[in-house]
Amino acid sequence: MCTSETFQALDTFEARSDDMVLASYPKCGSNWILHIISELISADSKKKYKYSEFPVLECGDPEKYQRMKEFPSPRILATHLHYDKLPESIFKNKVKILVIFRNPKDTAVSFFHFHNDVPDIPSYGSWDDFFSQFMKGQVSWGSYFDFAVNWSKHLDHENVKFILYEDLKENLTAGIKQIAEFFGFSLTGEQIQTISAQSTFQAMRAKSQETHGAIGPFLFRKGEVGDWKNLFSETQNQEMDEKFKECLAGTSLGAKLKY
Ligand code: A3P
Repeated sequence: MCTSETFQALDTFEARSDDMVLASYPKCGSNWILHIISELISADSKKKYKYSEFPVLECGDPEKYQRMKEFPSPRILATHLHYDKLPESIFKNKVKILVIFRNPKDTAVSFFHFHNDVPDIPSYGSWDDFFSQFMKGQVSWGSYFDFAVNWSKHLDHENVKFILYEDLKENLTAGIKQIAEFFGFSLTGEQIQTISAQSTFQAMRAKSQETHGAIGPFLFRKGEVGDWKNLFSETQNQEMDEKFKECLAGTSLGAKLKY
């Protein structure tokens, strides 16, 4: 999905000041937030927002960035890259960046199921096998912990905001309001409530084949906090707690991540 030619071409990508970046490690809820932002744009512009191309910035063919010049604003740019791997024009144009985090245990479990459920990507023999690869960072897009450490250094930047999957689960309406405010949408309470009702897990899963095709039901699998308890052994639990402490203790992200 991400060739070295595409990575090289990424440097030529020309960001616009009204682009919206959504950064996340895989399986932290990016399709959820993409949906919310699309609904915010649709409500604000009074016409249905539709992606013009596969929204993950670093995926696709190298000519993609030329085609993207023709896309109307505002463009949503989803990415799983580290902060310092983003193209320079994003910083030059002061593009707003929303980062979504999810606790590493549920993220790992979601990633494991995704690999094993989706037919076209490699599957893992067992959960234990996936867990050890995940801890070594030998999975697609690399280590969760490297991603978190990298972004944790930039979360207080002026154009960066971070939100937690778990907070959004706890209070979806409040989360949507924060996202709207960050990107500068001024919608009524009623509009926010409507978007909230359309963005619950149940609502999105029910429409997943319509919105995402055959992969839909795998993208909207369970949508819960704490599913890790069904797969982690006590040793794995301790190993991840140790790694988490080692990488993120003392950071504001480490203090806020919940599980
Ligand atoms: P699970 O596999 O734990 O169910 P991504 O979009 O980054 O690939 O993340 C996928 C994860 O986000 C999946 O987690 C999916 O169910 C969850 N998700 C997607 N939409 C959601 C929603 N509306 N509410 C809660 N979780 C959601």
